Amino acid sequence: MLNTQIIKTDGISIDYNDLNMAAKIIREGGLVVFPTETVYGLGGDATNASAAKKIYAAKGRPSDNPLIIHIAKPEDAEKYAFTSEVYYKLAKSFMPGPLTVILPKKDIIPFSVTGGLDSVAVRCPSHPIASKLIEATGVPLAAPSANLSGKPSPTCARHVIEDLCGRVDAIIDGGDSEIGLESTIVKLDGDSLTLLRPGAITADALRCVCASVTIAPAVLEQLREDERPLSPGMKYKHYAPTVPFVLIDGERERVIEFLKSEQKSKKCAILCYHEDMALLDNQNIIDVGNADNLESQAHILFTALRDADSFGVDIIYAHLPPKDGIGLALYNRMIRAAAHTVIKV
Ligand code: TXA
Ligand code: MG
Repeated sequence: MLNTQIIKTDGISIDYNDLNMAAKIIREGGLVVFPTETVYGLGGDATNASAAKKIYAAKGRPSDNPLIIHIAKPEDAEKYAFTSEVYYKLAKSFMPGPLTVILPKKDIIPFSVTGGLDSVAVRCPSHPIASKLIEATGVPLAAPSANLSGKPSPTCARHVIEDLCGRVDAIIDGGDSEIGLESTIVKLDGDSLTLLRPGAITADALRCVCASVTIAPAVLEQLREDERPLSPGMKYKHYAPTVPFVLIDGERERVIEFLKSEQKSKKCAILCYHEDMALLDNQNIIDVGNADNLESQAHILFTALRDADSFGVDIIYAHLPPKDGIGLALYNRMIRAAAHTVIKV
């Protein structure tokens, strides 16, 4: 058991001494959880194989599921990976920000970080505390989402403390994550680009920069038992609440009628649109924001799933989200949490 230090911040800046202490922990091979604009990251020195091993152990994550390395400036990717013209086009439009690019790796990045792969995932976060921490350590930070394997990614320090207190050296509390879903991940193949994980940088936004954008099948569909995913993370079971989580597809009015009758017959939790809150019994319902506000729904999803799971209900319901814009990322996370269970009404 480690004595985890909790470092408070105002969400934008961090005390100079705290920053240096956190940087020193990482340089000495320790682990520090830090806020990013997407979700919290469990950071260690990406050039240190033993730090990578500690990250996998702290999360309880299989060691063939590779880590993202976080850099302070897009051009720093040069030191750790082989970049290309398309990489710089993407960097110009979306970095710093919630985009991760898979590139061929250089030797300085150990295989323990990349799960044995020849490629490395590179991301330049826009959160000011993340940037300052990377700069202060002087090394790239290998950082998966700071949850225990099998739990939703953490979007506030409370989630991180629930999962990792005693398993990491320090946690920097930067308040609520702005976006709430993990970064968009793309793989480059010459001039074409494959979307491996949707996020706040949408497929349409990517198409403005790169003419050929293919969405990997595993983003929308269930992988067959024998199928090899393009990204190892796709094959692992993702967060599923301890009780069934079911998505409801249909016109708003019909969904409400369905939910009302379920509330009468079952002990259920509902992730509910703001404008529908008054129409339902107010027990165990969580306001996820307006129906057309997909950003709000993305921001709240992981907190809502953690909370709904703690209510002690028998089933959790939510609307099936649309697949456009950031909706694709919401859809991808929700359909996996629901193990593809959708009821059409
Ligand atoms: O927003 C984010 O990306 C957050 C914050 C902390 O930056 N990080 C994050 O990391 O979500 P993680 O480890 O939870 O998810 C990384 C995903 C995994 O599904 C992994 O399989 C995939 O990225 N990945 C990493 N390196 C890869 C590679 N070389 N090739 C294919 N997929 C890779
Ligand atoms: Mg994760």
